[in-house]
Amino acid sequence: MSTLTIMPSGKTVVAQEGIRLLDAILAAGDDLMHKCGGNAQCGSCHIFVQSGRKGLTKITPDENAKLDTIVGVGSKSRLACQTKILGTEDVTVELLGFASGL
Ligand code: FES
Repeated sequence: MSTLTIMPSGKTVVAQEGIRLLDAILAAGDDLMHKCGGNAQCGSCHIFVQSGRKGLTKITPDENAKLDTIVGVGSKSRLACQTKILGTEDVTVELLGFASGL
């Protein structure tokens, strides 16, 4: 298990191994758009991982392809619907809202 911290709200949630970031964020009570239902098609669940990247699954080709199409992507970018928590270390993410350019 890992502790997931969600910025800017500062909410924390204990996340089980294997849970998607999207599901953990929603379970914490924060809002995160996921227009395509979690299929790496819309990019609306774009977030930044501020710490704990090694505690997350690696980027898949589908995720990478979608990230390439999003404005404002950086080295900390992930799609929350495609990223699972490994449970090996705590993770802090930043929700972007309208700043994501979508
Ligand atoms: S919900 Fe559409 S890409 Fe993640």
